[in-house]
Amino acid sequence: MELPPRPTLFDFHGVSMTKYFTDNWVNIQSFKARPDDIVLVSYPKAGNTWVSYILDLLYFSQTSPDRQNSVPLHERVPFLEISIPGFPSGVDELYSINNFPRIIKTHLPVQFLPQSFWEQNSKIIYVARNAKDSAVSYFHFDRMNKAQPEPGDWSSYLQRFMDGKMVFGSWHDHVGGWWEKRKTTSNILYLFYEDLIEDTERELSQLCSFLRLSPCTDLKKEVTEKSQFNNMKHNKMANGSADEVFDFKISPFLRKGRVGDWKNHFTVKQDEEFNEDYERKMKNTDLHFRTVL
Ligand code: A3P
Repeated sequence: MELPPRPTLFDFHGVSMTKYFTDNWVNIQSFKARPDDIVLVSYPKAGNTWVSYILDLLYFSQTSPDRQNSVPLHERVPFLEISIPGFPSGVDELYSINNFPRIIKTHLPVQFLPQSFWEQNSKIIYVARNAKDSAVSYFHFDRMNKAQPEPGDWSSYLQRFMDGKMVFGSWHDHVGGWWEKRKTTSNILYLFYEDLIEDTERELSQLCSFLRLSPCTDLKKEVTEKSQFNNMKHNKMANGSADEVFDFKISPFLRKGRVGDWKNHFTVKQDEEFNEDYERKMKNTDLHFRTVL
């Protein structure tokens, strides 16, 4: 399907957004949550797809094994705020789901999450990734995703990342906003991409205890194996190849899957400037990230 020209960024209640995530705003904001909903939140490129696949396997690999081979992950885990002409909106997809719990992907900053999720006390999992790897991953993603604004070159992209001029706004505000919310809300689990890379099994246990799931040993093994980077990368239902807005000739969706790839992109000068800016923006938070393992 022919896509319109790439969208442009605009300020939306203080957050940079594109029309593809704001056009359906009224329906997004009035979305009817359920108490058993599981909301998977992240700033873009933090590992949302990875954790969504883990969740889908945990909940459905035994009860609906067919869905693993026949339904692309982005349909199993709809993207709440997406609305691109010619495709079903995330809200419509979510309302048409009939196997529960619904696993719901979103990149919304904390102040934009529809009220109903708080009222229903739905479970929320936030995945965070260090800023440098997030910026690199986002850059390559914006190159290959025709529904994102033109990324331009790396150095101007990095500056815009620091300025918060990215779709879904500032990384610093996003990770920090959800981190603060988690301190006053018991139903938020805050995970780190770096921890998942370091010890997937340990993080899986944390996830299961938060969700009050007790998977058998076989299921845990299956989830850990199937969600490994190389296995997901070759799985057509989980590697984004079914997504029509991606151009795989430019970059794969599951690209490197590592901690520290930023070192292959940042110059020494860029690193110094980034660190200085980072210290300033993050000086009042007790949220800490690892940029190497
Ligand atoms: P890279 O571009 O650094 O490779 P999201 O799903 O939130 O868009 O995040 C995408 C990032 O998560 C990409 O990072 C992708 O490769 C990585 N990722 C996805 N599945 C993964 C897995 N199973 N193991 C490690 N990283 C994974």
